[in-house]
Amino acid sequence: MCAWPEKLCAIAPIPGPKKAMINNSGAEAVETAIATARAATGRQAIIAFEGAYHGRTLLTQSLTSKYALFKKNFGPFAPEIYRVPYPYLTGWWPRTR
Ligand SMILES: Cc1ncc(COP(=O)(O)O)c(C=O)c1O
Repeated sequence: MCAWPEKLCAIAPIPGPKKAMINNSGAEAVETAIATARAATGRQAIIAFEGAYHGRTLLTQSLTSKYALFKKNFGPFAPEIYRVPYPYLTGWWPRTR
């Protein structure tokens, strides 16, 4: 049995009850986060940013926006995904040194 999730919960600066889970890949972590959010909210839709890469499972590939690189000829993809521009703040991006 692994104690990492309990240790993570102990140091996380988040008030109230919390749980942590270890996943074996980024795609699995994204899928788990979405399943958890859907179960908690009862909502299905997901918002994903333009330019996003989220992995190679069906759902994470559906969330990924770089079509030619990661999606061409691989559809159909998962429904209820809505894409929005990434909210870059003007002047926020660090200047090159
Ligand atoms: C934001 C993001 N989500 C998900 C993934 C997928 O991770 P994995 O290749 O471990 O499934 C990546 C990988 O680069 C990523 O950058």
